[in-house]
Amino acid sequence: MVGLVRFHRRWLLIVLLLAVALLSAACSGEVALPDDADDELIAGSVVFRARCAQCHGVDGGGGIGLSLREIESRLSDEEQRSVVVDGRRRMPSFKNSLSTEDIDAVVRYTREVL
Ligand code: HEC
Repeated sequence: MVGLVRFHRRWLLIVLLLAVALLSAACSGEVALPDDADDELIAGSVVFRARCAQCHGVDGGGGIGLSLREIESRLSDEEQRSVVVDGRRRMPSFKNSLSTEDIDAVVRYTREVL
């Protein structure tokens, strides 16, 4: 009897931990990458979280910085790159702190995923 109770407790704990893990992933607001995301898109999501999300929001919905959702309908690829490279008003320049590959990756991520 005691053994059975212990067994159930352990499962309850595992289920609870799983639920917490799932819930925190769902609440982080991060936009899921498509299943077929290639290395560049994955790199773009890493750069975005590390360097852009604090101002533009983990989900790209904006904050200190503007919303980047559907940015592809407002700026051309070139225009968007130049904002990231050179900065614009309160948007910092990333030309000295991100490689060309990182900039390409994060621009593509914001256009294709957010
Ligand atoms: C310190 C805060 C901050 C960080 C970090 C930041 N941005 Fe921004 N971003 C801004 C602000 C503020 C603006 C609005 C600039 C303006 O008013 O002209 C902006 C504007 C932009 C725009 C133009 C949006 C539009 O609709 O015209 C793009 C694209 C952009 N940011 C991309 C990025 C990317 C990509 C990163 C990460 C590499 C990043 N930003 C990091 C604050 C930030």
